[in-house]
Amino acid sequence: MFSRHGQVEKTEVSLAASLDTVVQFAREALPDTVTFDVAIESSLAKATAVVNPTELMQVFTNLILNATQAMDDTGEIKIAASHVDLTENTASGFGLRAGSFAQIDVIDNGSGIPETDMSRIFDPYFTTKRIGEGTGLGLSIAYGIARDWGGTITAANEADGARFSVFIPSSLQ
Ligand SMILES: Nc1ncnc2c1ncn2[C@@H]1O[C@H](COP(=O)(O)OP(=O)(O)O)[C@@H](O)[C@H]1O
Ligand SMILES: [Mg+2]
Repeated sequence: MFSRHGQVEKTEVSLAASLDTVVQFAREALPDTVTFDVAIESSLAKATAVVNPTELMQVFTNLILNATQAMDDTGEIKIAASHVDLTENTASGFGLRAGSFAQIDVIDNGSGIPETDMSRIFDPYFTTKRIGEGTGLGLSIAYGIARDWGGTITAANEADGARFSVFIPSSLQ
């Protein structure tokens, strides 16, 4: 999987359209007790990114599945997307190059992430789930894909759950 990175075929996609597809898929696949609140800032309407569409789906379905599991299948997942220009300073804090990014947040109102786990959740095979419920590979794969794009994924706790922010290098048409 990781060794394939750099060789997967990438193409220019509309991020707003891709997010629509992701949410439509998730709504169909998940129980009705999981609801979605999607807020795509108008600045993102014309944003495109050069990615492999299958990998883009994989990143967001992994995050949405984790959110669903953290909420025990009941709650609201908020997806908030905006366009951000990261300056040298902010970008280097994330290990990124300065530039134009889409920031797409997946926010849940589930269990949140214990502070002691925060530094390990992106490690391969780190899981707090029972055998059969998790492999511990979802976040490490998603992170590897995002880094391959020149982006990243960050995690933080909210007052009520967790927030994962996906940064994707993006340009405005
Ligand atoms: N939305 C979330 N809320 C709380 N904890 C999370 C969330 N997403 C991931 N985690 C934590 O990170 C761990 C690793 O996630 P992941 O790599 O997807 O593996 P898995 O889901 O198979 O356990 C999870 O086991 C869980 O402890
Ligand atoms: Mg997972």
